[in-house]
Amino acid sequence: MARRKIGVVGAGQVGATLVQRLAERQLGDLVMIDIVEGVPQGKSLDLAEAAPLEGYDALLTGAQGYEAVAGADLVVVTAGLPRKPGMSRDDLLKKNADIVGGVVDQVVKHAPDCVLIVVSNPLDVMTHLAWVRSRFEKRRVIGMAGVLDSARLRAFIAMEIGVSVKDVQAMVLGGHGDDMVPLPRYSTVSGIPITELLPAAAIERLISRTRSGGAEIVGFLKTGSAFYAPSSSVVQMVESILLDQKRVLPCCVRLEGEYGISDIFAGVPVILGARGVERILEIPLSAEEKKYLTISAEHVRANIAVLNKLL
Ligand code: NAI
Ligand code: 2OP
Repeated sequence: MARRKIGVVGAGQVGATLVQRLAERQLGDLVMIDIVEGVPQGKSLDLAEAAPLEGYDALLTGAQGYEAVAGADLVVVTAGLPRKPGMSRDDLLKKNADIVGGVVDQVVKHAPDCVLIVVSNPLDVMTHLAWVRSRFEKRRVIGMAGVLDSARLRAFIAMEIGVSVKDVQAMVLGGHGDDMVPLPRYSTVSGIPITELLPAAAIERLISRTRSGGAEIVGFLKTGSAFYAPSSSVVQMVESILLDQKRVLPCCVRLEGEYGISDIFAGVPVILGARGVERILEIPLSAEEKKYLTISAEHVRANIAVLNKLL
């Protein structure tokens, strides 16, 4: 079978680390696109020169023009700006909307059949925008956030109890913001809910750390945000789609009545396979869990309204 083709737009921290991880897993040929001349070319060549040492076969190319992603099976959008001093959230929203909107227009022109994975922040709004601009079926536009937020919670649970991360599962739903919804009832160690293993105060502490997980890393790095765990999170989604694994992962998808939420993108558990989002799983939520999911979703809706006013 011919190798699959994967485009990654934005050759920054998340984009370039993602390309490295995808190459090392031999998931396909990789095209990196960035607005900055030379950067995607240089990083792709460097990764191609690492291939004989790491032992992967993949064609790695970098470009400024979108002809390079022609016919891609899957494209990941990581292009965007971080928030700079003096910049409001609305300024960032507008800037990144201009970037992501322009990127999506180009991707659609050259890779009309691809599945789109959006990473750029603010995540839920940018994924909504990508869906609107691409006019793709909703199953083909997916935002990455839940896998990362759940991975952070998994790491914190493993550290707290002193067990292998391999045995820890966790579920974080809602928008990728301070009001994301970690679900302790659905977070387990080898099938045992953490509510049976940890006192309520400890769980609250881990939840709070998960909610500010992105900010904790920014606090250390100062000039950038997380990229190792984010790129690993995208790899899991790409793998499930390209290998039709049908993994159940929390992803940012368009909701049309599921969980009582309509017409916005937010994080819920889905089955990811060759067609993209193959099914949204509606798991039973307590009244309190539902309340928090609704609050988080309404926050996303408010941000989409801000975006619509700015555009
Ligand atoms: P970065 O600044 O290292 O890389 C962004 C890249 O986008 C830069 O190389 C820049 O030149 C490029 N770019 C800017 N405008 C472009 C355009 N019009 N066309 C093509 N490329 C363009 O940033 P990093 O750390 O890679 O993060 C990327 C985005 O992902 C940010 O918006 C960040 O907030 C978001 N992010 C989201 C996460 C999530 O959980 N959804 C996790 C981590 C990051
Ligand atoms: C994170 O959660 C910046 O959204 C990014 O690390």
